[in-house]
Amino acid sequence: MGVKLAVVGATGMVGRTFLKVLEERNFPIDELYLFASKKSAGSTLNFKNNEYVVEELKEDSFDRGIDIALFSAGGDTSLKYSPIAASKGCIVVDNSSAWRMHDEVPLVVPEVNPEDIKWHKGIIANPNCSTIQAVVALKPLDSSFKIKRIVYSTYQAVSGAGLGGFNDLKKGIEGEPPKKFPHPIAFNMLPHIDVFLDNGYTKEEMKMINETRKIMHRPDLKVTATTVRVPVYYGHSESINVEFERDFNMEDVYRVLHNSPGVVLMDDPSKNIYPTPLYAEGKDEVFVGRIRRDESVDYGINMWVVADNIRKGAATNAVQIAELLIK
Ligand code: A2P
Repeated sequence: MGVKLAVVGATGMVGRTFLKVLEERNFPIDELYLFASKKSAGSTLNFKNNEYVVEELKEDSFDRGIDIALFSAGGDTSLKYSPIAASKGCIVVDNSSAWRMHDEVPLVVPEVNPEDIKWHKGIIANPNCSTIQAVVALKPLDSSFKIKRIVYSTYQAVSGAGLGGFNDLKKGIEGEPPKKFPHPIAFNMLPHIDVFLDNGYTKEEMKMINETRKIMHRPDLKVTATTVRVPVYYGHSESINVEFERDFNMEDVYRVLHNSPGVVLMDDPSKNIYPTPLYAEGKDEVFVGRIRRDESVDYGINMWVVADNIRKGAATNAVQIAELLIK
């Protein structure tokens, strides 16, 4: 038997990918409901060769026994409608940042902390895209060698900023001025993702720091981050510097990552093998390469971690959470 499933924000970039991933993974659905803003009401979207009409999201939208709703319609929509859905017995898997750091909301990456879905009270948060791919690679290393400190430097695709970001790159190549970003992104890089905070960090950087601690159950872990937007359509890349508490050998690092769920090792510099965002595009795994000892500290490594930000960084992770819920 399947579930009654709703997609909120179905017309958006992540919303459409929810549908693609649900179809590919043959998620058991008895009834499917698609919601977006008023402007999309009446339009249709295809799922498994059937056309579904998009409805305007309203307060009574969840009054029909919907079991699970995947939300990707922005923080404000989520803040308003997730509690309404939950009060009707629907379990919300929310891709926005609205609920992630809430004490009563689990923040889940199925390869890392699947046990946390057990304490949900109707809302489960999907982490930030750059955090998801990082912790898939970091958690197994933490379990084996205990991480002391993490330094993130990211190279993030424009699709993470939605259609507006995508268009700024596409049209920017032809010389059009940007609309979404404060500077041209074509042939450029911006050390600026989301808004600046009082401490000089961007909100994206603080999301990576705080969400890593929550997902890995390491509230005091030392983490710092610099997040950068680069002229790539899909796929976030990350240089991650990790310092361990304990001594280790490189063979064990490779073995641990090789055996980790969701991780694909691509590390053979002699053959120019390492992950790139173009390679990761459209795939669900987290790709890891360029693993090498950090010779400037006692026990540390550097590695390069790449994943499709719209799939594992958003839609796929949320669908995996829904799969855990129906298990
Ligand atoms: P719409 O297409 O009708 O504006 P993206 O992140 O790619 O911009 O997508 C955002 C998604 O969230 C879209 O599906 C958008 O619908 C939806 N959305 C935005 N605001 C609302 C709202 N107030 N109520 C419901 N859905 C919304």
